Amino acid sequence: IKKIGVLTSGGDSPGMNAAIRSVVRTCAYHNVECVGIYRGYEGLIEGDFQLLDARSVRGIINKGGTMLKSARSKEFREKEGRQKAFRKLSEASIDALVIIGGDGSFTGAMIFNEEFDFPVIGIPGTIDNDIVGTSNTLGFDTALNTVVDAIDKIRDTASSHNRLFFVEVMGRDVGHIALNVGIAGGAEEILIPEEDLGLDRLVESLNRSRKSGKTSSIVVVAEGDKIGKNIFELKDYVDQNMEGYDVRVSVLGHMQRGGPPSCFDRVLASRMGVKAVESLLEGKTNYMVGLMNGAMELTPLEMAIKGKTKINLELLRVSDIMST
Ligand code: F6P
Repeated sequence: IKKIGVLTSGGDSPGMNAAIRSVVRTCAYHNVECVGIYRGYEGLIEGDFQLLDARSVRGIINKGGTMLKSARSKEFREKEGRQKAFRKLSEASIDALVIIGGDGSFTGAMIFNEEFDFPVIGIPGTIDNDIVGTSNTLGFDTALNTVVDAIDKIRDTASSHNRLFFVEVMGRDVGHIALNVGIAGGAEEILIPEEDLGLDRLVESLNRSRKSGKTSSIVVVAEGDKIGKNIFELKDYVDQNMEGYDVRVSVLGHMQRGGPPSCFDRVLASRMGVKAVESLLEGKTNYMVGLMNGAMELTPLEMAIKGKTKINLELLRVSDIMST
């Protein structure tokens, strides 16, 4: 392998830039050329490439987003699009790809590898932490800190006005962000898709804590939760079924994906970039790099995509006890 391409695909996440920097510098360290591919698979199909050397990634380890830009490509889902991409890679003499993204991006990488026998390695970059084969995806830790900061601020208003706040957080179909920030932000209740407790139990519990002397409350709602699916309907229902609180909704949205990566995500990104490039140089392909029990490990892309991450039951229990 003489030339490696790197791209970011799907939703951006803090730490992607640090991972790009690591891939580029590990290539330089091993005297391998590195090519940045802009706008994910879109740019791959169009041949939007630029040679990157060790100095071209200076000053980005602390930046959120991705300098290579990202996109969700429809064309790459079609065989024709992938054929065009393969042609562009051959023309540029790129021998292997590092894909930084989530499960959708990995599905594309895996199909591409099968069709063209093209070496690929994935780096899991998403705030959702919904990928099997790593305890942490890139950006998860930063997003947790961002959201906890927001909840702390919302709590100031909640307690000043005796309010109940429903705070919606991201996570797509999983509740990892919600569960962690709920505990860290001292939420009274946490609604996650993995555990359906029902509306009545929620109202009952909020009424109980109101009667026990609480003057304000925060309920963290994962965007994928069933009863929280329409958070404004949920708010209306609770408003009608309990007294003593002024109820408000706060949907945090895309601010959760931005900002400088945490120290943890910068270190993780640096480790993942090294592991990804060195794995390709050792002839490994169709794997994802991940953090398992503190060490860098490889997981077949197929397992990373098809597996379902499990919610930490111990965390769930802690959150129940804390809301007593
Ligand atoms: O996968 C990351 C994520 O931020 C999810 O948490 C969220 O559901 C989704 O992307 C939002 O996607 P978009 O930026 O396309 O609206």
